[in-house]
Amino acid sequence: MSTSNLDHPSGESLDAASTYLPDVELLTRMANEMFSALPNATPAAGVPSSAAAASTVTSAPALEVPSFPADHPRAGSSVYASAIPLPFEDELNTLFSSAKESYSAVSGIAQTGAPSAGALAAAPLPAPEISALSADHFNLATSPIPSAIPLPFEEELRALFTPAQKATLAHAAIPANSGQASSFYFLDSIASPTASTPLPAYAAAHPPFDVNAIRRDFPILKELVHGRPLIWLDNAATTQKPQSVIDRLSYFYQHENSNIHRAAHELAARATDAYEDARKKVRHFLNAPSVDEIVFVRGTTEGINLVAQSWGRQHINEGDEIVISWLEHHANIVPWQQLCTEKGAKLRIAPVDDHGQIVLDEYQKLLNSRTKLVAFSQVSNALGTITPAQQMIAMAHRVGARVLLDGAQSVSHMRVDVQQLDCDWFVFSGHKVFAPTGIGALFGKLELLNSMPPWQGGGNMIQDVTFEKTIYHAAPARFEAGTGNIADAVGLGAAIDYVQRIGLENISRYEHQLLVYATRGLSTIPGLRLIGTAAEKAGVLSFVLKGFSSEEVGAALNREGIAVRSGHHCAQPILRRFGLETTVRPSLALYNTCADVDFLVAALRRIQSGRTSF
Ligand code: ALA
Repeated sequence: MSTSNLDHPSGESLDAASTYLPDVELLTRMANEMFSALPNATPAAGVPSSAAAASTVTSAPALEVPSFPADHPRAGSSVYASAIPLPFEDELNTLFSSAKESYSAVSGIAQTGAPSAGALAAAPLPAPEISALSADHFNLATSPIPSAIPLPFEEELRALFTPAQKATLAHAAIPANSGQASSFYFLDSIASPTASTPLPAYAAAHPPFDVNAIRRDFPILKELVHGRPLIWLDNAATTQKPQSVIDRLSYFYQHENSNIHRAAHELAARATDAYEDARKKVRHFLNAPSVDEIVFVRGTTEGINLVAQSWGRQHINEGDEIVISWLEHHANIVPWQQLCTEKGAKLRIAPVDDHGQIVLDEYQKLLNSRTKLVAFSQVSNALGTITPAQQMIAMAHRVGARVLLDGAQSVSHMRVDVQQLDCDWFVFSGHKVFAPTGIGALFGKLELLNSMPPWQGGGNMIQDVTFEKTIYHAAPARFEAGTGNIADAVGLGAAIDYVQRIGLENISRYEHQLLVYATRGLSTIPGLRLIGTAAEKAGVLSFVLKGFSSEEVGAALNREGIAVRSGHHCAQPILRRFGLETTVRPSLALYNTCADVDFLVAALRRIQSGRTSF
């Protein structure tokens, strides 16, 4: 059983009790390294002198970790530091000297809560104020004055999340019944097998939100790319996988692998249990009323095509109208366009304003008795706009339209409740929420699903077949023809366990702070234009940089180990709405830190100032 999530980056193994506690020694040593590098530095209260820290370093060779290359801005410091949110290193001296002064300039904002990303982008502040804000925005408690040094936020974050959520302890992602007989077919008839599999390390308690502990859950974050520590800012394209998901897949193939539902043997039962258990997890994740409302699909694209080909072909007729928004990914445009062409229906587009927000008045004007379907994204993949989904769904329902909500970009960032939203269908992709690729889910209201014809025929979805006629299963089986992606569905269940252990509210809150921090950081770069400055945003920072193509910027960042997407993001209409064919798109997830943002900003400054060779 892998315990690699317990490995310290040094290779030293940590005991379970200390795994999720802050790395006090390391933080202290780093704080001292940084403080002693500042002119007129005095150690912060509670932080040992740099001499003491130096002796800690020399007496603790086990903490040696890979260092940054000589030409790197962090040359000489440890790679591990990338997990710790540090301020902009290039600007430290300037920032710190004026941090107190600038606090008064932003305290109005800070005391009324974190400002929206859009508001911040609209009113960029001079660089020194970033320091004060970044200190304060992680301290939502009412700190009278931010620390002059916005380092390291861990304590503030812990204070934020500790009281209510420390009670939330982790549960194993490996099935609770592992080592026991499966329940699906064999509940009464098969005795427990003798194998007893010990629970993996991640079954241990996990504190509610500790970004360093979270980072240790994702082994790929220790990769070096072009000799630099990987900074993964391409989360809107796909997310990285925690060890618990990787281990769950491995466990499935080692102990459970079989086709499901058919064969009457133990492994078929284990695989069926695991698969159906994953369906229950998806139901719970979306707060769907019934497990029968969850159809496994390959991903969002397949889910949308399923609805278009099944319900759409059944219900859309000549003269009908389908409304989508200007924000949509191609996956939520093309299937409806194809349907409209086939049926002689009309595709209508709800416009967005210059911030990338849907103009609700115009959307309202598009809705009428001919509107049969509305399909839109909860979060835009290209701009990060969070749409007012509940309101838009209610507006569509008032004219009798059905609504499909594309949750590909929302599920990893916010809690989704399909009952509260009242959408008729909801689709998402597992790989955007730390699960494997090739698996996703479609939620549909039960009566609706059962009224829809199957879109693919084959095994698994039938009750009875003769040459004359076939009787189909009810949902969800009627939409799952053939052998599904069993193992990856099980992996999706493990990913859902993972994010639920941390808590969607904790994730949203942390990511919001990070988005605010990143928005302000990017706003300080001359010639950088942010595309998408909605008041409600999640995780995406699309931009263009004057004088450079998106591809050049993406390639230059890649050389520094920073992964972002540059291109049209499968959302050409919305980029063209802003007069662009491409943008650079860093996108955030729960394991990103202020340090990641700082590296990005520093690298963009180097590109902008011509210090990067192309
Ligand atoms: N839909 C994915 C993206 O936005 C691929 O990058």
